[in-house]
This record gives sequence, structure tokens and C-alpha cells, in this order.
Amino acid sequence: MDQAAFIEKYATNRLNTNSLKWDALDERYGNKDLIAMWVADMEFKVPEQVTQALTERVAHGVYGYSFTPDSYYDAFFNWEEQRHGLTLKKDWIRFGTGVVNSLYALVNAYTQPGDGVLILTPVYYPFFNAVQDNHRQLVTSELRNDHGSYSIDFDDVEAKIKANEVRLFIQCSPHNPVGHVWTEAEETKLLALCEQYHVLVVSDEIHQDLEIDPENHPFISALTVANQRFADNVIVLNSPSKTFNVACLLNSHVIIPNATLRQRYDDYSQMTNQTETNILGQTAGEAAYKYGAEWLDQILEIVRDNYHYLTTELAAHAPKIVVADLQGTYLTWLDIRPYVKPEYTREFIQDKCGLAVDFGEWFSANDKGFVRLNLATDPKYVHQAVQNICRCLDELTK
Ligand SMILES: Cc1ncc(COP(=O)(O)O)c(C=O)c1O
Repeated sequence: MDQAAFIEKYATNRLNTNSLKWDALDERYGNKDLIAMWVADMEFKVPEQVTQALTERVAHGVYGYSFTPDSYYDAFFNWEEQRHGLTLKKDWIRFGTGVVNSLYALVNAYTQPGDGVLILTPVYYPFFNAVQDNHRQLVTSELRNDHGSYSIDFDDVEAKIKANEVRLFIQCSPHNPVGHVWTEAEETKLLALCEQYHVLVVSDEIHQDLEIDPENHPFISALTVANQRFADNVIVLNSPSKTFNVACLLNSHVIIPNATLRQRYDDYSQMTNQTETNILGQTAGEAAYKYGAEWLDQILEIVRDNYHYLTTELAAHAPKIVVADLQGTYLTWLDIRPYVKPEYTREFIQDKCGLAVDFGEWFSANDKGFVRLNLATDPKYVHQAVQNICRCLDELTK
């Protein structure tokens, strides 16, 4: 299907659907008329086969207790094998109602209050909450930012692990908000450090399928790095939710290859969280893994084109804005400090440009002056947003 036809078929207006992104603008930003470029979900309907599978399930009319069928595991495992070369086993898998929920559970299951938990900042802000709400010691290592190209300061990571008795490292792979896809070399070095200092790794791989340039920046799961050398020290969290725009169907995976770690997770879950499977989430997930590949490829093309439009226009009209190199995720990270003083970012982006975005300081106290824009949307919104930024900068610098 050509892109225009795809957009015509799948793009939709989400106003008045209880959409957090669109219908909570007034509550969150004090202005209901902004272009919503914040929350990480999409303005695209799910693949039609997913709607069909859900429709059939709903038509049956019963949502009583159920179990996860083998067909779900088959579809999920085939997807992981084919797209990422990741071979999974049924007994490694536990289900959750969302990756953030599972992050909270894992912090509790594997650490004690006061233990150090490491994160690499700037990062998806619920990582901070999962550590701090549970009264663990938040340990941060700031990524190096070389003009929008991000890398890990390994010396700092090692020093922080040693100084703070870190027990757990929560990584974001690919990394939200900077859009970096960790290379095998980076992952190997990082996971080896964690192994050396007995730091358990939780790898949030919810953005695994959102590969923007897979030839040059292929996603590699922490479970497959270095021929699975670290699999016994890694727990992976993933979900069909970002990939297929089904976040509110509350179905996610906790993948634990190591039997001892799995036992600990089960013991913890037994006390706190005896989650049943979510029938609609699993119906959608299975259909998406089985039939959603072409749909996803079209979505990725739209994100690439949106990113291309944004970078080209900004290079022409606002060349000092630094746009991070988008390798993975559909979230673009802009440093607008060359034009706008950090304390005026909100006034500029929200009040002048009319955009609801995620602000840099949500991801790191050091990143006021950065903004994150969601590109998994109808190009008309991206075009409008970019035009607004260029026009308002023009007015500012006149
Ligand atoms: C890195 C990361 N993890 C988790 C989530 C949210 O996952 P869930 O809705 O399954 O809790 C997001 C959503 O933006 C995310 O970017």
C-alpha cells in the first residue's frame, strides 16, 4: 500500500476518546488547543487483523478467567526469532499489565530499601519513580552527548557502581528519549561491568521493534549479546504495546531465563501480584505478532519520513537546533538551547509554538532546554509542529 493510502486508512483523530495524549491537554498543559506530540503512542489504528481478532473475541461476549494459549507463545516467539534472532522458551515468560508496573515489581523483588539502583540519564522518567517510590537509592550516570550522538561514560558507570553498592541496573534499550540503539560492543562492555560487580540487569526493551535504521543500527537484545553470555544475569521487559499501539490493553512480558531469578520473581509475585492474563491484550498481541509486520514496516516508513522532514526543515531554518541521531524509538530529542534560554523553553514551545511535548527536565535535571517530540503520527501534525517552530524562531530572532 502506498503511504498516502495507508495514512488514509489508518490515521485517525483521537479527540473525545479519553486519549491521555489529546483529551488531557487542558489538565496537563492548561491548554486544550495544543498539537499533542507527547505521550508515546500513535495516531494510527492497529493492523486491521488485530481489530478483526478483537471484534471476534468481543462478539463471543464472555471474558471469564482464561489462560495464555500456545498459539500466543508461538506468535510471540516467531516474531522475536525472525525480527531479532532471539530464541525464547515458554517457562521463561511471565506476564504483566505493563512494563512500568513490572519495573516496580522487579525493584522490589531483587533489591532492599536503601540499595543502589543505577540508571543512565536522560531516561524515561518512570525509571526514577520506580526507584525512588520504593525508597531505593537512585544512582545516575549521565550519558555523554556529543552534538546529539550519545554514548556511555563507562568510567563513571564503574565508579558509581563501586561507590554506591549498586544491586540493580535498569537499562532502556533502545534508549528513550535520545533514540540511541546500543551496539553489541556497548552492551557487552556494560553487561560485563554489571556481571563483574554482581549487578542484576533489567533491560526495558519495549522499543525493540522501532528500528529506524536497522542496517546500520540493528537492535540487539541484552539476552543475545555476546552469544547469550549474560542471559543468566538479565531480565528483559517487552510488550506489543509500543510496536502495535496497544498500550492500554495492558499485556506485557517479563522474560527471566535464569531459574533462580525466576523463582525469586515467582515468590515475590505470589505475595503481591497474582495477575491474570488479559484476554483482549493477548488476543490483540497474538494477531499483531502474526499479521502485523507489514503494518509496522509502513509505520516505520512514516516515522523515517517525519524525521527526515523535521531534520531537513530545521537544518534549513534553525540550523543550530541539535537533533539527536534517531536510530531507534519514534521519539525525537531536540536541543533548542542555542536559540531559547532553558527557562523559557515551555513558554516558547507551548505558548508560542502551540505544542504539547515532553520537556527535557522530566528525563534529567541537566536537560532543561531539550524537548522530546513523538513522530509516530500523521505527518500533517509533524509538518505543522515544525513549521510553528521555524516561524516562532524567526520571530524571536528578528
Ligand atoms: C522505555 C519505556 N518503558 C515503558 C514504557 C511504558 O510501558 P507500559 O505502558 O507497558 O507501562 C514506555 C512508554 O513510553 C517507555 O518509553
